[in-house]
Amino acid sequence: MAENSMMDKEKYLDEIEDSIRTIGVLTSGGDAPGMNAAIRAVVRRALSRGLKVRGIRRGYHGLLKEEIIDLSARDVSDTIQRGGTILQTARCKSMRTEEGQQKAAAICKKYGIDGLVVIGGDGSFAGAQKLANLGVNTIGVPGTIDLDIACTDYTIGFDTAVNTAMEAIDKVRDTSTSHERCSIIEVMGRDAGYLALWCGIANGAERILMPEEHDFDEQELIEDILENKKRGKKNYIIINAEGIGDSINMAKRIEEATGIETRATILGHMQRGGSPTCKDRVYASIMGAMSVDLLCQGKTNRVVGYKNGQYVDYDIEEALAMKKTISDYQYNIAKSLAI
Ligand code: ADP
Ligand code: F6P
Repeated sequence: MAENSMMDKEKYLDEIEDSIRTIGVLTSGGDAPGMNAAIRAVVRRALSRGLKVRGIRRGYHGLLKEEIIDLSARDVSDTIQRGGTILQTARCKSMRTEEGQQKAAAICKKYGIDGLVVIGGDGSFAGAQKLANLGVNTIGVPGTIDLDIACTDYTIGFDTAVNTAMEAIDKVRDTSTSHERCSIIEVMGRDAGYLALWCGIANGAERILMPEEHDFDEQELIEDILENKKRGKKNYIIINAEGIGDSINMAKRIEEATGIETRATILGHMQRGGSPTCKDRVYASIMGAMSVDLLCQGKTNRVVGYKNGQYVDYDIEEALAMKKTISDYQYNIAKSLAI
């Protein structure tokens, strides 16, 4: 069950478990704007509570290689506005094996890491859960541009990424209008369509293709493009989620079937970069600080989230079992606004 907002607890600052003296922090999986703000918050909240902080470079990969450094308040100066992650990030196959997990837990113990904050997505939380089972206190902080973590309405990085994509799509629209073209713009999101849905609405796209609606009918799309042309529309913007993909071939097929010049633009990793928005900085700061407070309370195997207007925390197993869907109602609205 979700715990009530930390903000509502008056006495949480008094409760420091004696067993917590050193906190480790790492970033894992794809980087996301705002990760630095989260790292900074972990470091400074922990130091302000009299704890020592160790930074682990390159996610679980760096943990297994013992790439561990001490972090001071000054080490995180001038980082809140920077994109990427100052600790670097990685994907690490060995962490998926029992041997790798045991080694990682032993290294945490060797370096006196009593509590570990893992900033990343669902995969990274699965790793944190394994470490918690091996006796390392762990807290997950949701950091991914995909917004695909079910236990939270907000993930660090989404706001910056969706604004970056929106601005890029506005630019593509200018040239699409000038040339009276159909433009397919592919956005990231792995298997989730949140970036596509939000851009689709914000950019006023004629069509949004997302994995959650995987059975879309390309023939019907082609007829709609032709119908729009007849009605005098000068261009047609399709936002295609990475989970559907195939944008370049789709553009060729559409051009062939409609006779309308069609181009595909794949936005790619530019969506993961750049200075975090205010929202990403603030949510990351609060969630990062909260993760330290939870460790100080002796909590472990939890993930921090923001749900129904409150900062909350969930058991990792429970969080990973949750399912997130895109509301049919929102998708229906997006469709009706594109007529
Ligand atoms: P994200 O955290 O953004 O979902 P990934 O799925 O790539 O990104 O996971 C990041 C890393 O977390 C992986 O490279 C791996 O080291 C670790 N990880 C993922 N799944 C598991 C798992 N089931 N058990 C242990 N570690 C895992
Ligand atoms: O999870 C973030 C994300 O950017 C996804 O949207 C995308 O599917 C994936 O990471 C790309 O990963 P990589 O950086 O390894 O190409």
